[in-house]
Amino acid sequence: MQITLTINDVSHDLDIDPRTSLLDALRHHLGLTGTKKGCDHGQCGACTVLADGRRVNSCLTLACMAERAQITTIEGLGMPGQLSALQQSFLDHDGYQCGYCTPGQICSATAMLDEIAAGWPSHVSEDLESQPRLTHEEIAERMSGNLCRCAAYSNIIDAIAEAAGRRDRREDAV
Ligand code: FES
Ligand code: FES
Repeated sequence: MQITLTINDVSHDLDIDPRTSLLDALRHHLGLTGTKKGCDHGQCGACTVLADGRRVNSCLTLACMAERAQITTIEGLGMPGQLSALQQSFLDHDGYQCGYCTPGQICSATAMLDEIAAGWPSHVSEDLESQPRLTHEEIAERMSGNLCRCAAYSNIIDAIAEAAGRRDRREDAV
């Protein structure tokens, strides 16, 4: 089938098998290999991209389902010389080892910080009405869909906390 995807503000016409996942469309048809394939089963978060600003697993999303969405990949968040605040913070805090999970972590964290700013509670939020605080526990819970086989979790949380404007997470962390 013929579809048109909008990726990082660029429109792409594709002629693909309707069973093609958004992940495979990005990597194999468009050459956007920043988005990674870990499990291909919705379990690791390596393939996380943003669809209209919301984080989604691109391995569980058919490309044809994404036609009306604005898709943002790690390449659209920032590139060398123009890194996003989160990308720079991951660098500053060594928030990775092999780096394979990192694009998914950063895409997920980008949307996660918007979710907190919008006041969305999580499973560990103190209550359902107050503005969630960006504690270690909140970040860990909200990023629990993104696995890191190198176990760089501690530095990932530091990177996210700093990018969110918290210079010393230990000061406020629960
Ligand atoms: S590759 Fe999509 S969740 Fe693992
Ligand atoms: S940095 Fe290697 S999997 Fe996360």
